[in-house]
Amino acid sequence: MAAAAEEGAAAATAEFDASEVEYVSYGGEHHLPLIMRLVDDELSEPYSIFTYRYFVYLWPQLCFLAFHKDKCVGTVVCKMGEHRHTYRGYIAMLVVIKAYRGKGIATELVSRSICVMKDSGCEEVTLEAEVTNKGALELYGRLGFIRAKRLFRYYLNGVDAFRLKLLFTQPELHPSLVAAACEEGDQFHDDNSPVDQLHPDVSRESNPHFA
Ligand SMILES: CC(C)(COP(=O)(O)OP(=O)(O)OC[C@H]1O[C@@H](n2cnc3c(N)ncnc32)[C@H](O)[C@@H]1OP(=O)(O)O)[C@@H](O)C(=O)NCCC(=O)NCCS
Repeated sequence: MAAAAEEGAAAATAEFDASEVEYVSYGGEHHLPLIMRLVDDELSEPYSIFTYRYFVYLWPQLCFLAFHKDKCVGTVVCKMGEHRHTYRGYIAMLVVIKAYRGKGIATELVSRSICVMKDSGCEEVTLEAEVTNKGALELYGRLGFIRAKRLFRYYLNGVDAFRLKLLFTQPELHPSLVAAACEEGDQFHDDNSPVDQLHPDVSRESNPHFA
């Protein structure tokens, strides 16, 4: 029992220096099982191998893996393309294994993808996150994402999602438009997110995180 408990404790957090983590972009089919295992273990939505291949074959430059001593400890999978007259990036999957969390690995992975998206001409980046996923919401909030919409029972498990959005350039909005958006926006907000917290950046010209 003691040995098992020690083993469990060791698995709970890994001792490592952030400088030992190596980040690589998707390098071919040998990376696919690593990505699939991480995502299958940690995300609630099931994905088929065709979904993984769709992303990594078409946008390998937007997929990154984090390695610590040859062990894959995190990954991000994304795409980009035209969407309603906008060229936008989309973050499909982001996972860091439990023992390696809280050390900035997800931030580094996602920032790398976002930089490629920005350099490729994307005007914005979107993703969905479960409304209950405090870690992800906090992480993306720190990167400058805003909550654009609440999607009712979006996931197969019945949980609602927030659609999060990062705008690289943000037009100046007339104050009356901001007020109108705030008045009709209640349906998109959760109880902990007053309207003025959801859209704090409407008058800023560019996102400082990815300037
Ligand atoms: C969400 C996830 C990717 C974060 O990975 P991570 O490497 O631990 O994230 P980082 O270390 O880069 O965190 C950066 C910031 O995000 C916030 N954050 C991350 N996890 C958090 C948590 N569990 N609770 C609160 N804030 C959290 C913190 O503000 C953190 O900064 P800090 O450590 O200085 O406080 C990871 O917990 C995970 O894989 N979860 C399961 C899969 C998942 O939910 N993916 C996202 C789907 S949208």
